[in-house]
Amino acid sequence: MFDSCEIAGRRFVPARFLAPMAGYTHSAFRRLIAEFGGCGALWTEMLSARQILNEDFAKSPWVKRRPIERFVFYQLMVRQGDPIEKVVNRLLENGADAVDLNLACDASHIRNLKAGSALFSNIEAMRKIISETRKYWSGLLTVKIRLGDRRPDWQPRLAERVKMIEECGVDAIVVHPRFFEDKFKRTARYETLNFISSITTLPLIASGDIVDKDQKIFDKLRPAHAIMLGRIALIKPWVFVDWDNPTKVDYAAVWKKMFDYIKEDFEPLIALSRIKMFTKYYSSNFLFGNVFRNKISNVEDLNEIQTIADDFFSKTPAILSNPIVENF
Ligand SMILES: Cc1cc2nc3c(=O)[nH]c(=O)nc-3n(C[C@H](O)[C@H](O)[C@H](O)COP(=O)(O)O)c2cc1C
Repeated sequence: MFDSCEIAGRRFVPARFLAPMAGYTHSAFRRLIAEFGGCGALWTEMLSARQILNEDFAKSPWVKRRPIERFVFYQLMVRQGDPIEKVVNRLLENGADAVDLNLACDASHIRNLKAGSALFSNIEAMRKIISETRKYWSGLLTVKIRLGDRRPDWQPRLAERVKMIEECGVDAIVVHPRFFEDKFKRTARYETLNFISSITTLPLIASGDIVDKDQKIFDKLRPAHAIMLGRIALIKPWVFVDWDNPTKVDYAAVWKKMFDYIKEDFEPLIALSRIKMFTKYYSSNFLFGNVFRNKISNVEDLNEIQTIADDFFSKTPAILSNPIVENF
């Protein structure tokens, strides 16, 4: 299932994508995922639309893309008053494949900018931003949403928004089927996908708690055309290729590769934070991964982190076959 799908006449093989994750799906991580293979498309992390104008596409780890990544969706955090035409032109000049608008992020600093979930709540502002993006961006355009606020009338409110999104000419909807208030609690509400597919003809891309080929979950995901994997890909960057071709993994070598790629793409101070962030998730693979995670948490030097990692992996840490997917 999810071997392929078609969105706006473009075929994706497989229909299994890397979810956008702020702070994580930067150029170094996308390179790692792409090298393993098996991923149909990759999402950048959420990028401030107006910041796109200041980025150097040859160097910036937020926007640069290597040929091996093949198809990358640039996810934008757009706010009212953003110079959308200029932003789109900049993406076009730099050969962007696709654009995704974030209407899902409920973090307070994003809401305060009237973006993400705040934009989803303001239907007229949302319509304006989507229509303007569609006017200038003729390529593949998606939006990422949640179910909205948890309130008795959530269904008609969601239906009104989905209809508007469709009328604006969006090509597909990425759905993380949780309410804003859910944050990451309880499992994703896959049962709501039936309702969403009944109110739109647009292809749906489902995101949330998908970690492997679980037939019971797949039955519930049936209304979706494609799926996205998020946190499990941070724990197991080989998860996509493993799906069809179980892969023997050298855990130490994968960590070292990520370390080197982050060092190559980021300046040292940010590299330090990004390697610590990645290690939080990656260490979930190990029985005593929390020890590794804690040991590097206060280290301020990249070489020291590498020494700690070498020491950890030299002791052949016990691997957990089903690591717990947490939200760090
Ligand atoms: C650390 C982290 C950062 C995230 N950042 C973004 C983001 O920038 N844009 C977005 O649309 N969703 C973001 N999400 C949500 C994910 O894309 C995804 O929908 C969610 O994690 C559920 O999928 P999963 O259970 O496979 O992780 C983020 C999630 C996590 C855990």
